[in-house]
Amino acid sequence: MALERTFSIIKPDAVAKNVIGAIYNRFETAGLRIVASKMVHLSQEQAEGFYAEHKARPFFNALVSFMISGPVMVQVLEGENAVLKNREIMGATNPAEALAGTLRADYAASIDENAVHGSDAAASAAREIAYFFTEAELCARTR
Ligand code: PPS
Repeated sequence: MALERTFSIIKPDAVAKNVIGAIYNRFETAGLRIVASKMVHLSQEQAEGFYAEHKARPFFNALVSFMISGPVMVQVLEGENAVLKNREIMGATNPAEALAGTLRADYAASIDENAVHGSDAAASAAREIAYFFTEAELCARTR
């Protein structure tokens, strides 16, 4: 299967818990390669734009407030079946429903503060990657 890319965020709750390295280790252990990465403190406009599809949802304002409450790590993961693989590593949106051993089971406190984001499809991955990274910032494997 061809290599695929997906977009990932380590959310403010997980950054505050100091588990960036632990989460990166899960990605790498599962065969996903980090090909771009940076820490950012999102502005309200950036967070609202990123989650624009959820604007009408009752949790939208709380989600935006949470996402700007502290720095996040944003990264692009590359590997076979990367979108689906990352969704499996993350576990269900609601940590109460997440399988044991998934990131949300291990690091998320609630559906409102659930440690990580991952693209849900190849098309959204492309859009979300472009929201944070230029093409030149995506580092292809050279050796
Ligand atoms: S849904 O309901 O299927 O559309 O949800 P989903 O697309 O998986 O996730 C929507 C994002 O909003 C975050 N969020 C919540 N979702 C549902 N209910 C509540 N109360 C809620 N609060 C926040 C959820 O974590 C998803 O964020 P991302 O960053 O995409 O994982």
